[in-house]
Amino acid sequence: MARVALVTGGTRGIGAAISIALQKAGRLVVASYAGNTEAAEAFHKETGIEVIKFDAGNYDQSVAAVNEIAAKHGAIEILVNNAGITRDAVLSKQSREMWDAVIDTNLGSCFNLCKATFDGMKAAKFGRIVNIGSINGQAGQYGQVNYAAAKSGIHGFTKALAQEGARYGVTVNAIAPGYVDTDMVRAVPPDVLEKIIAKIPRGRLGKADDIARGVCFLTADDADFVTGSTLSINGGQHMY
Ligand SMILES: NC(=O)c1ccc[n+]([C@@H]2O[C@H](COP(=O)([O-])OP(=O)(O)OC[C@H]3O[C@@H](n4cnc5c(N)ncnc54)[C@H](OP(=O)(O)O)[C@@H]3O)[C@@H](O)[C@H]2O)c1
Repeated sequence: MARVALVTGGTRGIGAAISIALQKAGRLVVASYAGNTEAAEAFHKETGIEVIKFDAGNYDQSVAAVNEIAAKHGAIEILVNNAGITRDAVLSKQSREMWDAVIDTNLGSCFNLCKATFDGMKAAKFGRIVNIGSINGQAGQYGQVNYAAAKSGIHGFTKALAQEGARYGVTVNAIAPGYVDTDMVRAVPPDVLEKIIAKIPRGRLGKADDIARGVCFLTADDADFVTGSTLSINGGQHMY
């Protein structure tokens, strides 16, 4: 039987590439989204991958979604916490709402979905969790105290949970992407983006597939000796 995988934010950008790569690897994939139903339906039509709408930053909705997927397909064995947003502003212009939204969506979602799936993985003696962090959680970034804190938190969360899962065959790893060509990065002003690309030794933005390849490696059945690690995929921009 195909292992069941949930990819949060799996209908667009990096998440969509991850969903497709996991499907190609023989997983039964469910991709979640938050509100862009049009994009999610188009993704489903194109790929045949099941989509589910819920706010990954909301605990009750996350638990309900996990239960719904388990009832339909069996317990989730592969979890990719990819859902993320930015609400950029320097601290003096950043509101408490911007802080809460970014922390809840990027970091709170990892807690919500791991909490809802982890005991089942432990009982099954198999689990693969990949949390999508960021180069900006490793290096910091101007105007992103909320995002850098959330992503940095993901890296700590990953190392702590990996210690709880190891003896049960549940691995927990993170990927720290550099700048990847998705809607999130297309929102960066072109002059700023040009300066960013100039600092990437590889000389280009990342592709969503570059990140998906890392997820396939970390979620493979025989990847059980890799846990608590952060895989940087950033074209050499930050060597951590
Ligand atoms: N792009 C980059 O350069 C880059 C670099 C480093 C790290 N990352 C991280 O990689 C991940 C994916 O980024 P991306 O660039 O692919 O983003 P994106 O193109 O903006 O897509 C984000 C996805 O997350 C979903 N989402 C947002 N908020 C959600 C919520 N509360 N609950 C459930 N799903 C939610 C979106 O759903 P809707 O379609 O419904 O809005 C969408 O499917 C994020 O965690 C991001 O922080 C990206």
